[in-house]
Amino acid sequence: MGKIYGVVLAGGIGSRMGNVEKPKQFLELKDKPIIVHTLEKFAVYPEMDEVLVLTPKAWVSFTQDTIRRYIPNADEHIKVLAGGETRNETIMNAIRYIEECGCLDEETIIVTHDSVRPFVTHRILEENIRYARQYGATDTVIPATDTIVESTGGDQITSIPNRKYMYQGQTPQTFHALRLKQLYEALTDEEKDVLTDACKILVLKGEHVHLVQGETFNIKITYPYDLTVAKALLGLEE
Ligand code: CTP
Repeated sequence: MGKIYGVVLAGGIGSRMGNVEKPKQFLELKDKPIIVHTLEKFAVYPEMDEVLVLTPKAWVSFTQDTIRRYIPNADEHIKVLAGGETRNETIMNAIRYIEECGCLDEETIIVTHDSVRPFVTHRILEENIRYARQYGATDTVIPATDTIVESTGGDQITSIPNRKYMYQGQTPQTFHALRLKQLYEALTDEEKDVLTDACKILVLKGEHVHLVQGETFNIKITYPYDLTVAKALLGLEE
């Protein structure tokens, strides 16, 4: 069977977090940085051959130091690399690294995950890998609780899709790395610019992306409010 890579996406700067001294993935959540909480979920997962962490270029050595400080034997299975300009480019940097190592083949699987979603569970990771092997790709979602209102102009409703068919996207998103790279490279620069979601690369080509049930608590830390919620969630775990 092909190798499985964890791909922890930490290439953003967290502008919506406001004026903080470092990208949000490095902010403390209780006793350690957010990214360390996330990596611990991956580090204990036995099926993962290697975990790649992609971080802004200027933060690579800081990330290495942080991981060494908190995770024992990190150098053996966690590799820090520079991320890209966009989230999808960050994913492509991970695939390029796998390719340069001579490890990219049709079976290679990448489990991509936001570094700022520290509450991912073992069940979610396990189902991502299982269904990606079976169906080619997965997306982790929860049913939409609020009605989704679409407005293309921002001032009036253009449509209200039936809530029963609406989900909120989370991560992980899991892919066959070679297939994702081929499809991404076939896109025009304009198409790449508007693609904020990696699964959409496959959806545009009509490929099967299987749904994995996420968790309400698998939140993404985006705004200061989310950090407060995350602290409360950690309190509940005790
Ligand atoms: N990400 C990445 N590479 C980029 C941009 C984003 O790896 N070029 C990662 C972020 O580090 C984050 C995840 O993708 O873990 C989800 O993105 P988001 O929450 O939008 O993070 P930021 O881009 O950092 O936040 P903001 O949009 O507020 O600047």
